[in-house]
Amino acid sequence: MPVEKIALITGANKGIGFAIARQLGEQGIVVLVGARDEVLGKQAADALAGDGITAVPLRLDVTDPASVAEAAREIERRYGRLDILVNNAGVAGGFSGASSEATAADLREVYETNVFGVVTVTHALLPLLRLSPAGRVVNLSSHVGSLTLNSNPGSPLAGLDMIAYQSSKTALNAVTVAYAKELRGTPIKVNAALPGVVATDINHHRGHRTPAEGAVIAVRLALLDEAGPSGACLADDEPFRGSAERHQQRRGMAVLQITISDLQTILHQCAGEAEDALPLEQAPDRPFDELGYDSLALLETHSRIERDFGVELSEDEVGLMNTARELVDFVNSLLQLKVMSAV
Ligand SMILES: NC(=O)c1ccc[n+]([C@@H]2O[C@H](COP(=O)([O-])OP(=O)(O)OC[C@H]3O[C@@H](n4cnc5c(N)ncnc54)[C@H](OP(=O)(O)O)[C@@H]3O)[C@@H](O)[C@H]2O)c1
Repeated sequence: MPVEKIALITGANKGIGFAIARQLGEQGIVVLVGARDEVLGKQAADALAGDGITAVPLRLDVTDPASVAEAAREIERRYGRLDILVNNAGVAGGFSGASSEATAADLREVYETNVFGVVTVTHALLPLLRLSPAGRVVNLSSHVGSLTLNSNPGSPLAGLDMIAYQSSKTALNAVTVAYAKELRGTPIKVNAALPGVVATDINHHRGHRTPAEGAVIAVRLALLDEAGPSGACLADDEPFRGSAERHQQRRGMAVLQITISDLQTILHQCAGEAEDALPLEQAPDRPFDELGYDSLALLETHSRIERDFGVELSEDEVGLMNTARELVDFVNSLLQLKVMSAV
């Protein structure tokens, strides 16, 4: 009989962590349900056990080194090794002001869990992961930590200002790469998972994905075979930003960006007899009427954008958007607000 794999998931009493525990458990893996609250951890493990999963609650507060050390001793005593560590526990933090108003304490509050907590847990458990034939570490990161997305003015994150949470995930990505670099040449792989925008307590259930959907990429990285990557930061096939067409395929939810070319497609569909109007890409800063688009086509276009992108365009505001660039920037600023409230 093959030896059972042992997985620890931190913050597994609810949300994405609970879904990861379930999906790993369904693969026959023994799941250690990490939770800082003993009662909640037991309830979660009992729920999984009720569905036939081998789930064991493990008290673990990632910000408390003594609790982490105790959990590591417990795993060593019971199993003698660890095969999979999912650093899932995370917080958004209480600070919601502008970046320039944040203090070091505001950042530290979030880093304690999202960065230092991951380091504390990984440091304590690496000796046990080294005893596994194929140790896997998965860190739950976020698109909002991407420096590439954040520094691109056209990205849906360009207007997102959550310095503590965002930079904690950027730091987590760097920590992930640092571990992967050092462990190159060992059987251990360390990767970061991007779950997408998932409806959980952390964002007051404003995400559009389910925890089960958000768990998929973390589970895939936890089960990587020898040929898999290490030091990567990966999402599943959920497009984070893309065309209006792809956007519409995602249950009409809006976390994406509208481009001038998306607007062109919609305008063409709505413009009727004005099909020969000048392409928007050639003159994004010229008023629509000069390009040959009439107000009726524009009204229809606004309704289509509202429906397809899930935003509300007030007539007063949208009436001021006379050019393609103005309209696209305006819609994207509304989409950014949606992302901001759904991280
Ligand atoms: N939801 C999203 O859209 C999204 C997107 C990208 C990344 N993520 C990341 O995914 C991970 C899971 O988040 P979620 O959406 O599932 O949020 P969630 O439902 O709020 O779950 C967070 C979990 O972390 C636990 N936790 C917090 N501080 C802890 C600590 N000091 N020690 C141990 N556990 C602690 C919580 O325990 P309590 O119940 O005791 O508070 C809870 O179990 C986080 O790292 C988050 O940043 C989420």
